[in-house]
Amino acid sequence: MATAEFDRIADVYDETRRALDEETLNGIKEMLAKHDCHSILEIGVGTARVAMPLSKSGFEITGLDISKRMMEKAQTKGIRNLILAEGSKAPFRDQSFDATLMAHVFHLLQDPLSVMREAAKISRVGIFALIRKRPEGDNRGWPFFYGDNDLNNSSDTRIDSENEAARKIFEERRERFRKIAEKYGFKWDRAQRWRNWAREYEILEKYPPDDLKVVSDVVVNESFDERISRFEKGAYGFISSMPEEMRKEIIQEMRAYAASHPERTSQPRHEIYQVAMWKSKSLLL
Ligand SMILES: C[S@@+](CC[C@H](N)C(=O)[O-])C[C@H]1O[C@@H](n2cnc3c(N)ncnc32)[C@H](O)[C@@H]1O
Repeated sequence: MATAEFDRIADVYDETRRALDEETLNGIKEMLAKHDCHSILEIGVGTARVAMPLSKSGFEITGLDISKRMMEKAQTKGIRNLILAEGSKAPFRDQSFDATLMAHVFHLLQDPLSVMREAAKISRVGIFALIRKRPEGDNRGWPFFYGDNDLNNSSDTRIDSENEAARKIFEERRERFRKIAEKYGFKWDRAQRWRNWAREYEILEKYPPDDLKVVSDVVVNESFDERISRFEKGAYGFISSMPEEMRKEIIQEMRAYAASHPERTSQPRHEIYQVAMWKSKSLLL
């Protein structure tokens, strides 16, 4: 399923994601350097959004992914060592690399631990993961239409004043979008989506990493236009799998809503990223 999903969105992936910011990149680099890791296998390398800047900084990168179309993008950026394979079946000898990196991949894996254990065998030092911290216990979903979950739970004073307004605006819309989904018989398992994100915390809780660091903490202000444009481009698998008419109807709704609320042109989103590191020997115990 993940193959089809990412093959479908490969063309718009980079233009609809934030480029890796300097803080996050430096955070990853520092963690790798601290643990003396230079040769890296990135599982779920995608379009090399992370791999390319690491490669430019002198790390030796091999990319692995199940989506051919995502890796074609990585190739055009100059990443040469690319392997089409499933993360749990990486075709390498034991200790072929210093480390394995996974950036925004855990939530897509049915069984992240089994992939980590396999990765541990081929990694001399350990496994590194870039993970977005998300608020716990919030499974409301549909953030695209009514706001980012993070805002609803945030205690961040930088966005508190915006928080209430954002919640109100988008919660008003939630019912409307639910109705549209119902009309088109579109089933989107929000709880499942949340469980997927929850896997990332569970891993941290069940298998405490040997090292963990928050590498960036920013409030991103996304304009309504950008949000609508991301939706129009079908930037995520669940959007690209909607019936065309349903997508159009939602876009119309979003536009009409933005036009009738000229006082609000953007929406803040709190993004916290952390890098976790597990030593191979801890995972192979
Ligand atoms: C959200 S993207 C992240 C790409 C890149 N690491 C980044 O941060 O931009 C997840 C990538 O993981 C790949 N992927 C998902 N499940 C995988 C698996 N089981 N084995 C290998 N790659 C997988 C997808 O094809 C996709 O390219």
